[in-house]
Amino acid sequence: MNRPAVRRIGVLTGGGDAPGLNAVIRAVVKTAVREYGMTVLGFENGFGGLIKNQVRELTENDVVGILPRGGTILGTTNRDNPFHYPVVKGNEKIFVDVSDRIFENVSIHGIEALVVIGGDGSLSIGKELYDKGLKVVGVPKTIDNDLSATDQTFGFDTALTTATEAIDKLHTTAESHHRVMVLEVMGRYAGWIALASGLAGGADVILIPEIPYNIDIVAEKINARSQERKKFSIIVVAEGAKPIGGEMVVNKRVEDSFDPVRLGGIGNVIAQQIESLTGKETRVTVLGHLQRGGSPTAYDRILATRYGTGAVNLLAEGKFGRMVCLKGQNIEDVPLEQAIGELHNVPVHGELVKVARQLGICLGD
Ligand code: F6P
Repeated sequence: MNRPAVRRIGVLTGGGDAPGLNAVIRAVVKTAVREYGMTVLGFENGFGGLIKNQVRELTENDVVGILPRGGTILGTTNRDNPFHYPVVKGNEKIFVDVSDRIFENVSIHGIEALVVIGGDGSLSIGKELYDKGLKVVGVPKTIDNDLSATDQTFGFDTALTTATEAIDKLHTTAESHHRVMVLEVMGRYAGWIALASGLAGGADVILIPEIPYNIDIVAEKINARSQERKKFSIIVVAEGAKPIGGEMVVNKRVEDSFDPVRLGGIGNVIAQQIESLTGKETRVTVLGHLQRGGSPTAYDRILATRYGTGAVNLLAEGKFGRMVCLKGQNIEDVPLEQAIGELHNVPVHGELVKVARQLGICLGD
């Protein structure tokens, strides 16, 4: 057994859940305990558990059977930012910095370092805690695949598979009824899920935030298909898609959240416009949180496991303030600030977009 730089570590899952979180937790616990003889404590419900001291030890027995399970055994939330924590004063809700509570709780439990499994919001908080003196390593999670310091986040492959299955199912009913089917998928400000599932499912139109669309061009595509005796069409639209010169459709705001904006509703907007422009019966499916649920794919299980083991290896080597990442085929690591810098958007002149265009898929421009 190697001598690790730290012996007692914490782990938490923050932000929206993604398939593969349990696979990371399992790999963290197994690697920490078996390889390094560490003790692992799991904080419940993201940073909320760190603030409120909701913690339990995670032994190898606690992670038996969780590899194929969706969700997270620790719970999560996309609220509870310790640097911007809501408290009610009188009739007013104000935001205060409660990060000192985290340092108290960490010291009560003798925790020397923390694994933060999260997207840009949770990793930004992890970076702030690191700057304040906590030894942190990050693991990149999100179905949106929008973190720039890694080639892929875990959770994306499962969401993509779910969206692809949905397109396959929509195809058969669209064909039978000679309808236009609009599928709205998640992805926030990035079009990865829409573009990749649209390609995998054989969509006719794919609309992504990175390429603002002209609805007349989309309608022309649908009409052109009708003239080619293709009486149905499939449109995949990312929740963040927007018309040229227009705005994204916001469904609601969650003020306590790291990013308060919740997108959603563009599918209905597109469907109404397409129905009136083409006269073709159009239906909408909003795939929503189905994309975040269920058992992770084999790819996500393996990636999540490699990330979990990689994160513990970093802690054991004393490499803090870093995030594990995928570069090509290899697990590497980068400073946390790189992980939370710019979002990783679909390159508009990249190969995937080019392939879509060469197949005749309409991207709305
Ligand atoms: O970031 C993951 C994600 O699922 C986005 O694709 C989506 O916009 C958002 O989270 C939904 O958040 P909530 O869980 O608050 O509905």
